[in-house]
Amino acid sequence: MAAAHLGGKVLLLLGGASARKSGLHSRVAGSMAKAGVTYEELWGVAPNPSIVFARDGVRLCREKGISGILAIGGGSVIDCAKAIAAAVRHEGDPWDLFEKKIKPHNPLPLGALLTLAATGSESNGNSVMSNPKTEQKFAYYHPGLYPAFSILDPELTYTVPPDQTAFGAVDILSHVYEQFFHGLEGTDLQDGMAISIMRAVIKYAPVAVAEPDNYIARANLMWGSSLALNGLIGAGTVGDWTCHMLEHELSAKHGLAHGAGLAVVFPSWMRHVASRKEGRFRLFLEKVWDISTAGKSAQELGPMAQEALNGFHGALGIGSRIGDYCQEKPRITSMVDSLLSYKSPENLGGLTRNELISIYEGAV
Ligand code: NZQ
Ligand code: ZN
Repeated sequence: MAAAHLGGKVLLLLGGASARKSGLHSRVAGSMAKAGVTYEELWGVAPNPSIVFARDGVRLCREKGISGILAIGGGSVIDCAKAIAAAVRHEGDPWDLFEKKIKPHNPLPLGALLTLAATGSESNGNSVMSNPKTEQKFAYYHPGLYPAFSILDPELTYTVPPDQTAFGAVDILSHVYEQFFHGLEGTDLQDGMAISIMRAVIKYAPVAVAEPDNYIARANLMWGSSLALNGLIGAGTVGDWTCHMLEHELSAKHGLAHGAGLAVVFPSWMRHVASRKEGRFRLFLEKVWDISTAGKSAQELGPMAQEALNGFHGALGIGSRIGDYCQEKPRITSMVDSLLSYKSPENLGGLTRNELISIYEGAV
């Protein structure tokens, strides 16, 4: 049994009620009991998981002598499992890791039983956690946080509701976008893989929204989730990740779901930057969306890309504007200033403060 990778005493980490409702929890509990694996349970990881919850998880792991963690859920549960796994052997506060205050150490092993196709957390060493006190959402990477194993059964995603299915699809695509718009030559192989992932997600996300138990659609999304952010398509290139940073501010300050934040930021970002990345945007429009750019100027590419994304989001039943998700007025300058307090413009695609403000304003 896979849980043997997690040592003698396992923590089952879960989100809200979905794993109970679907019957997944009782299936796992049954097979753990059958295999004679001792375990504790911790429920309640919320979307955009909080470092406050992770602190409780660390305490529980120490008290109970936990040797490994099995995350049962989507990206939030897996990321929280990583935060706990990373912090158990760290004497200070778990948030220190996310503020990059401490050096790498020796995390507990973890496994993932994925229930939502989206983040790629099941196949990478990243954890993204939020700090409600400071209104920050930061990522932490450690090679020891790659899951020892991940179980990817598309049938476990049949119960994912339409909006979360759509947000997940947008997240998968966004991971590809972040890595696709580089300025390098000769990336034919990476481009081919990236284009295949994007085309599969664009084809099958609307199918999964309309037919939740369509195995082929769910399988394409789940495989896309893992392939988009396991390091393969970005090998040898430099990713951008500005939109993820802009999204993290939206989640941290206004509580948007990750995929929702990306659905509003990316169309505006593309409109803003496409003319500077003309070759890549022509490739994107032609090969991913089957939109001819013949006779179009560089300035026309941004609005074309924006329209393609907005149309796709509409077909999935989700909005492309901040106002679709958030009733309060977005605190744009506060988000930009917060972002610039820990990221330099060079790490944000060279965009200036005013440009970052314009991108948010274009998404209101
Ligand atoms: O909590 P439960 O009841 O399980 O419900 C969840 C949650 O409400 C529900 N859900 C999950 N699987 C389900 C299901 N409902 C019915 N049936 C199922 N099979 O879906 C809701 C959202 O779950 P969540 O885990 O929050 O979604 P997602 O997988 O999109 O994860 C988002 C988090 O991952 C981070 C995001 O920032 C966000 O915090 N990311 C992690 C990354 C990484 N580790 O590499 C990269 C990403 O860019 C991202 O930043
Ligand atoms: Zn993402």
